[in-house]
Amino acid sequence: MTTATTTPAQPQPSAGLRGVVVGDTRVSQVDGQQGQLIYCGIDIHELARNSSFDEVAYLLWHHALPSQANLDEFRTQLAQRRALPAPLLRVLRELPKNSTPMDVLRTAASALALFDPAVKDITPAANLEKAMRLKAVFPTILAAFYRLSQDKEPVEPRVDLEAAANFLYMFTGKEPEPQAARVLDVALVLHADHGMNASTFSAIVTAATLADMYAAVVSAIATLKGPLHGGANEGVIANLMEIGDIDKVDSWVSGKLARKEKIMGFGHAVYKTNDPRVTDLKAIAKESGERAGTTKWVEMTERMEKAVWEQRQLYSNVDLYSASVYYTLGIPPTYFTPVFAMSRVVGWCAHLMEQYANNKLIRPGENYVGGRDVKYVPISQRQADVPV
Ligand SMILES: CC(C)(COP(=O)(O)OP(=O)(O)OC[C@H]1O[C@@H](n2cnc3c(N)ncnc32)[C@H](O)[C@@H]1OP(=O)(O)O)[C@@H](O)C(=O)NCCC(=O)NCCS
Repeated sequence: MTTATTTPAQPQPSAGLRGVVVGDTRVSQVDGQQGQLIYCGIDIHELARNSSFDEVAYLLWHHALPSQANLDEFRTQLAQRRALPAPLLRVLRELPKNSTPMDVLRTAASALALFDPAVKDITPAANLEKAMRLKAVFPTILAAFYRLSQDKEPVEPRVDLEAAANFLYMFTGKEPEPQAARVLDVALVLHADHGMNASTFSAIVTAATLADMYAAVVSAIATLKGPLHGGANEGVIANLMEIGDIDKVDSWVSGKLARKEKIMGFGHAVYKTNDPRVTDLKAIAKESGERAGTTKWVEMTERMEKAVWEQRQLYSNVDLYSASVYYTLGIPPTYFTPVFAMSRVVGWCAHLMEQYANNKLIRPGENYVGGRDVKYVPISQRQADVPV
């Protein structure tokens, strides 16, 4: 092995790019010290209480709260974009029924580009059109694939229902109770954006090469899938099911921590205090559990939160209570992360529109730590691999 002869001075890398600022945004801010999240300056709690997912999408894309007339118009435009291109539905029919729904969403989002004649157009108007299309069609993709995987025919979207109600309608085939639709709508509001997180960063890295918005959103979906990011909500319900009984929560937590295993739904790269979304999600998780007559999951979740705090002082994050919210709504665990994506696509598109409007290729560096002045050994003289 040849070692370095001279090592030029190199800057200290920031592990996980923590503390690195990639640009300016007007979309959202995460204050990890105060435990505050704002969308365009408005506190998330206020939006969760008073707003709707569609209104939040308008806010994040236009940086303005819509008038009633503009919101009505926006909703109509979104509803008109809910149907799937017929060939895409045929593609969904051909996919293996046991496909991971997050992979189906990624594949379908990629395929959507093929049905957009203006795919390469990255002007603000074309990007807004793509954003509306992506937001409108994600629920249809997921509900259609779910039903196909259950040997049922997809249910056509309805234009008269709001986003969450329409999704539950297409998913189950029945118009949901207004309270159930409201619970999902609040969850969608709370997941819509979260500063420069991993999936949003993936999206803007792709967009910064001036690749189109579908390509950028496909990168984001792929990144959201991982268990350290959006995939954590599925991990939470898997853990609750594995534990099975509230009296076993404490010992299960002790075991995980003793083995130094990560517990899904806890810890955060930015929050050094409570994740503000947890408060709202806990409230709706309890409310929907009581309404559905099954408080088991939310009670186990609360017990887990208490045990993790007592044993390791870790705060819970957005994925902890969203798991029991979705489960109580009858959404299967493999759809938890896709439902997150159905919401976060709004935030991705908001950041993408900012990126395209003020673009610079993203090209960080890295420190080379390998050998130098390594002699090249011709292959004929190598009896085995030559480590360098
Ligand atoms: C989100 C996450 C990746 C943030 O990671 P991070 O800020 O880089 O923090 P680290 O992973 O370096 O963890 C710091 C310490 O806390 C511990 N820790 C962090 N999250 C933990 C968790 N969920 N369970 C157990 N221990 C955890 C780490 O083991 C580490 O301990 P150590 O210093 O003794 O090695 C991390 O908390 C995590 O993996 N959480 C679980 C997955 C999850 O819920 N993701 C959704 C995020 S919204």
